Amino acid sequence: MSEHHHHPAGECQETDARMDRNLALEVIRATEAAAIASARLMGQGDDVAADAAAVKAMHHTLSYIDIDGVVTVGEGREGEAPALYSGQKVGSGNGTRVDLAIDALEGATIVARGGQNAVSAIAMAETGGFLDPPRCYMDKIAVGPDLPPGVVDLDAEPCDNLDALARAKGMTVQDLLVCILDRPRHEGLIGKVRACGARVMLIPDGDVSAVIATAHGGLDVGPDIYMGSGGAAEGVLAAAALKCAGGQMQGRLRLRDDATRAEAMKRGIVDFERKYTIDDMARGEVMFAATGVTPGALLQGVRRVARGIVTHSVVMRSKSGTVRFITAFHDPKRASCAKPL
Ligand code: FBP
Repeated sequence: MSEHHHHPAGECQETDARMDRNLALEVIRATEAAAIASARLMGQGDDVAADAAAVKAMHHTLSYIDIDGVVTVGEGREGEAPALYSGQKVGSGNGTRVDLAIDALEGATIVARGGQNAVSAIAMAETGGFLDPPRCYMDKIAVGPDLPPGVVDLDAEPCDNLDALARAKGMTVQDLLVCILDRPRHEGLIGKVRACGARVMLIPDGDVSAVIATAHGGLDVGPDIYMGSGGAAEGVLAAAALKCAGGQMQGRLRLRDDATRAEAMKRGIVDFERKYTIDDMARGEVMFAATGVTPGALLQGVRRVARGIVTHSVVMRSKSGTVRFITAFHDPKRASCAKPL
């Protein structure tokens, strides 16, 4: 190797050859296809059809991509969904062995109503990298990068978290913007946050986008913190994304009944009260790809123009911390079988 190409030890060295390729740059074709297919149904009032269109397009497109993938977190259990259920093998079968966390359409209701921030998302990790929760809620708290470790905690009082966050950011609590899913179950939390004096952004759906948005405070588009409970599967996806974008997140499964606890045990979850960190939910090196379906703070939605279709996606990788935004023009006249437009 010439002097020019020599990298000092510790710099630019791949620690695990299996995750060398930025696979997120490849699976983005699958999030694009899912976004395009479901965006067709924007505002049509049919969340089930929008979701089904996304799942079908994503599954189909993944089969043309050279990964040897297994869905860990997907569209439910085998039998519950036609494809992308947990345990299903996806990809061409050639290439890197990866586990996938998938939400073909995050925000089916958003699409049905023509709202904002619906995305199609895929995260990837090495085998066993993702927490595999049963279908349940997760209590979540997430903040962006460059903050002291443990600045906020899932078990602390909302006002204490907001005080600590404001101090760390050099802001007042009144300046902070807190994102919470607009649900009756959050009435108490919303009341407490308002009482602390912070500003509140209530969102109708889509907490994966909301968690990612906390990492983009520097771009002035996101909330300072996300709080509240949402889907556990969405929590794992959000953890993968935030690990790439930079930030802190904690989650705890809400395993309400015996059936859900039994499901959790089947998946190797023994401590039902465990507070998971970002690394517990998304271990090792992870990658994340998402395409906007409807217009959002982070990503523009699918746009149909006279000659074709424009998509906006983000690709992130935890190892390098690179965040790439990719705008793509799709020409339906030249669509290949891997592009169901
Ligand atoms: P979908 O992907 O099922 O459309 O989820 C939308 C969503 O808003 C998630 O972002 C969130 O985690 C979850 O639903 C909240 O669940 P619930 O609507 O039951 O409060």
